[in-house]
Parts: sequence; C-alpha cells; structure tokens
Amino acid sequence: MAKDKVSMELRPNPKSGRYRLISGNWKMNLNHLEAIQTVQKLFFLLKPQDYSYSEISIHPPFTDLRPIQLLIDSDKMRFTLGAQNCHFEPSGAFTGEISAPMLAKLNVSYVIVGHSERRAYFAESDEVVRAKVEAVFRSQMTPIICVGESYQERQDGLTSDRLHSQVDSAVSFLSPELASRCVVAYEPIWAIGKGAAADPKDAQEGASIIRSIFEELWGNSVSSKVRIQYGGSVNPSNAKEFMDLPDIDGLLVGGAALDPDAFARIIQA
Ligand code: PGA
Repeated sequence: MAKDKVSMELRPNPKSGRYRLISGNWKMNLNHLEAIQTVQKLFFLLKPQDYSYSEISIHPPFTDLRPIQLLIDSDKMRFTLGAQNCHFEPSGAFTGEISAPMLAKLNVSYVIVGHSERRAYFAESDEVVRAKVEAVFRSQMTPIICVGESYQERQDGLTSDRLHSQVDSAVSFLSPELASRCVVAYEPIWAIGKGAAADPKDAQEGASIIRSIFEELWGNSVSSKVRIQYGGSVNPSNAKEFMDLPDIDGLLVGGAALDPDAFARIIQA
C-alpha cells in the first residue's frame, strides 16, 4: 500500500525539471453517461505507476463536467478535470456561454483556450484568446493556450511569424509569475484530426520557437518553466517520440483520447 503511494507520486522530468501533462480533448463527443464509462475504463486500465510519469487531464464537453467531477472525487481518481473553452466575462447576458468562475467552481484546473477549431469555426481572434487567458488566470485555473500554423503558412515559410503573433498576443501582458505557469499546446493545424502527425523534428522546432518567445519576453527563469504540449494526430505509436523531445512536456490528444485503450497506451508509452 505504502509502496503504491510512493510510486504514484507525480515526478518531474529529471532532464527539464518540468511536470509533464497529457491532456485528452474530447471535443463535442460523449454524452454524460458515455463519459462516465470512458473515465471508469481509463481508470481501470492505468497502473499506479502510470500516474507518476505525467499529470493526466480530461477535457470533456460542458455537460459532462459535473458527473465526471463527482466520479473523480468519489473514486479518488488521479485525473485532473479540464474544460475546452470558456467565456472571458465572469457573468452576464451571453446566451449559451460558460464563464471561468463557473468552471473553477467545478474543480476544473485547466482550460483549453484558442483551439484552432474555435479560431476557425467560431471566429476567435487573438484578442479574444488573450481575454480568455486572463479570465482563466483570474479564476485561479491554468490555460492551455493552443497555437499553430496552417498548411499554407508552413508552405510560405511563415510558421515562426504565426507562432510569434499568436503567443505574443496571448501572453505578453502576464506577470512573470503567471507567464511561467502557462501551458502552450503547439498544434500545427495541418496535423489535427488527419491521422498524420507532424514530424518530431517539426514538433521540436515549433516548441523551441514557442519557448524562445517566453525567453525574449521574460528570460530563462520563465521560459524554462513553461510547459509545451504537442497536439495533432497523437496515437499510441507516436506518443513516445514526441514525449522524448527536449522542448515537449506533454501531449494534447483529440481523437485517440476518446478510446480509453488508446489513451491509456499513450500515457504508458
Ligand atoms: P487530434 O486532435 O489528436 O484528433 O488530431 C488534437 C486536438 O485538436 O487537440
């Protein structure tokens, strides 16, 4: 028993000193009953030592948050609850929206902000993303800020420019203390949901550009603490390659996170 307890302790990456974070972004999938089954199955598949390697956050749709929160609490599961989005205002006449304080009240710890699907389908601008980052921190949660270039931007050699403008706009107003707590997900848009992930070399390059932006803004004391995830067609066979990269501290997993077997194998990879 005591042995389990020790081995379940979350340990930082000995090379970087940063705590890893593997996140499952369910997008608009799984109703609350399916959600409960999925989390139970994942819990069943993971061994105590799997929790020592990386923190695991689960980002279900809003309607699943309360049941999953209760499940995690009652069964003392080592999962962190996350959300996929929030509004930037704390309350008000914004029909259909959910605020950051509402999420915080449900023990949500991480909120995905500026996912490329929200930028593309819901016209979320860099300014809106920035306001959401601020709102998430105001409610004592942590944003997972998604950035990434389109296929065309990559072809045109604009990857670095795109990452600079997105990251700069989302974080430049933060104090060094809050900046160092950010999680940034490098998600090249052309690799999301396509079944074909980025080359590890490209993922490392994107992550290192993102880290260098924090370095330019605040220096090494902040940039060495920021956690950077890779996202885009992560699966059990490519997860390890990404996790081994020096600037990658975790994964943002979409499709494969809906399948508890696949997600467990990603965590165990
Ligand atoms: P994917 O999605 O793993 O299905 O490519 C990743 C994401 O959109 O966060």
